[in-house]
Amino acid sequence: MTAMKSLIDKLEKNSVLSAEEYTQLIKSFTEDDAQYLFDKAKKIREKYYGHDIYIRGLIEFTNYCKNDCLYCGIRCSNKNTERYRLSKEEILDCCKKGYALSFRTFVLQGGEDPYYTTDRMTDIISSIKKLFPDCAVTLSLGEKSYEEYKAYFDAGADRYLLRHETADNEHYRMLHPETMSPENRKRCLKDLKSIGFQTGCGFMVGSPYQTAENLAEDMLFIKELRPDMVGIGPFIPAKNTPFEVRKSGTLGLTLFMLGLTRLTLPDVLLPATTALGTIHPLGREKGILAGANVVMPNLSPVSVRKKYLLYDNKICTGDEAAECRNCLQMRMKSIGCSIAVSRGDHIVKQGAKL
Ligand code: SAM
Ligand code: FES
Repeated sequence: MTAMKSLIDKLEKNSVLSAEEYTQLIKSFTEDDAQYLFDKAKKIREKYYGHDIYIRGLIEFTNYCKNDCLYCGIRCSNKNTERYRLSKEEILDCCKKGYALSFRTFVLQGGEDPYYTTDRMTDIISSIKKLFPDCAVTLSLGEKSYEEYKAYFDAGADRYLLRHETADNEHYRMLHPETMSPENRKRCLKDLKSIGFQTGCGFMVGSPYQTAENLAEDMLFIKELRPDMVGIGPFIPAKNTPFEVRKSGTLGLTLFMLGLTRLTLPDVLLPATTALGTIHPLGREKGILAGANVVMPNLSPVSVRKKYLLYDNKICTGDEAAECRNCLQMRMKSIGCSIAVSRGDHIVKQGAKL
């Protein structure tokens, strides 16, 4: 038994390690240690969620953004991005197509676009809930006030995804302009939880200046916040951004972080992200085998897909929703899993007592 495997055993037993222990694992794990971790992570996923993989239909409804995150392809100072917005009717149309393809969760994601005022957003949310009462609506619209979040919740939104990006405040400031602060990001997450949203945070792996210590902090942050979901994907450089010449995060480290997350929050909803599928043709399958249990195929109209380029070489930008859905079904089947026709709530929200 190597020292790293003993640490993985300790994490499995206690669902937490110290910052130093996480750091040591992240710095020193071998391929053999990673496989040891993935086997445990997969067993834990199966204990809570069986062989079911939850799907979420992603609707990228605007690529206008008032923010200027240094890594992001749709940042406001990227003048090469052709901007678009979807109307309420276009969004509802995506939901109709998605419903017919057995999606029971719709994720509305976009840049921080002031055009979508609280009134416009709550109208979109309540219209979706009226037409599809058996579906969950997830929002991913960035940082808002407590009152705006509350209005979305009261209009019927069920979940909110807001990656914290990095738990380390200094690192956060290296990735964002001065107008954005780690304190506000964390305030948003606390507000979302207190309002009653199923809340998701998350981070990029391999973002510029990131250290193993930063990733260890991310693990302790998620342990403390106890989110329902954690979105983890590799950083991938985007053309026409300050980080365009940086290296992508690696497949190996991203998978390792997924495995550590499954052991740290055993029942969490954990997507195998599109970014993971972008850096490796089998990235999403490997993500599931490392402990993930969610995939998020794209429901955006094909006409706008190539405009929502957060990073270079993004996959699935030419495929119809049905093609993505079928492709993922086959991919999941190839690793012994199947896509569930359900809202795919967090297991505690499904009524289970853990
Ligand atoms: N505006 C919303 C927000 O800030 O949460 C949602 C959209 S934002 C573009 C969605 C996520 O994309 C971010 O949280 C970030 O982690 C991820 N992202 C942006 N640029 C990326 C890049 N170059 N590589 C990998 N992920 C990236
Ligand atoms: Fe839009 Fe970062 S540039 S959320």
